[in-house]
Amino acid sequence: MSFTVQIANESHVHYAEKICELMEISAKQRGTGIAKRDPEYIKNKMRDGKAIIAFEDQSLIVAGFCYIETWGHGKYVANSGLIVNHEFRQSGLATKIKEQAFALSRQKYPDAKVFGLTTSLPVMKINSDLGYKPVTFSELTDDEQFWKGCQSCVNYDILTRTSRKHCLCTGMLFDPAWEKSNVEVSTEMPKIKSINHERKEKEQSKRYSKLKVYNRWMKRKAVILFKMIGINVNESEVDKIGSGQSGK
Ligand SMILES: CC(C)(COP(=O)(O)OP(=O)(O)OC[C@H]1O[C@@H](n2cnc3c(N)ncnc32)[C@H](O)[C@@H]1OP(=O)(O)O)[C@@H](O)C(=O)NCCC(=O)NCCS
Repeated sequence: MSFTVQIANESHVHYAEKICELMEISAKQRGTGIAKRDPEYIKNKMRDGKAIIAFEDQSLIVAGFCYIETWGHGKYVANSGLIVNHEFRQSGLATKIKEQAFALSRQKYPDAKVFGLTTSLPVMKINSDLGYKPVTFSELTDDEQFWKGCQSCVNYDILTRTSRKHCLCTGMLFDPAWEKSNVEVSTEMPKIKSINHERKEKEQSKRYSKLKVYNRWMKRKAVILFKMIGINVNESEVDKIGSGQSGK
């Protein structure tokens, strides 16, 4: 399967309803309470060149989407609304979409901190590869409008009870200041690179074992937070409960 991943524009606005439908189906399946996206909002993101859209090359079916949004007067940028059509999952498509959304965010807002809130392990993997680090919520934007977006989440109670310090989501952040003190990272759209497979496999297995530990830790955290709101579950039951905000 091959995909075309590109910056969305006016010619894509007629896909907005389909994209919202994919988001809604997925939110229902995951049991999250994320508000249904308004197709008009998605259309405007496309018109403004602030969205990434993907198509499967043979069928030309819309395969995935993501948009960028600024908070705190442009000091922060979030890549939100990531969705991959269930027909095309686990083929590396979200990775490609997030790479382009990240590059687009860096091009448009080179000094902004890029962040996300998620319960999704694949998204955490992708973010880690892009250079995001897990952070406490206090390091994310304090823009009230952003946090208002959590109100429709089934776990909002946990967020308010902890005075916005903890919830099931993990906050992840990329701060451009990190690279200024280090190596310059390109803000160009990603190009296909030759891959040293042996090295890639080694790196992947190292990263994967770290993420397994992290996933376990996340479940333990969820058990504790659920207990706070009177729900007793064990770690194996956590996945069955609607957990998560995921990318707002
Ligand atoms: C989360 C989602 C975007 C992932 O899309 P995808 O195209 O399947 O992801 P990719 O194929 O690019 O996978 C990225 C990484 O996660 C891993 N992965 C994918 N699905 C996984 C799963 N269910 N469990 C564990 N790891 C998984 C992949 O192996 C890959 O890791 P690798 O680079 O080490 O090989 C997709 O499942 C989705 O649309 N879910 C519903 C909406 C959602 O949760 N959005 C996220 C909002 S933050």
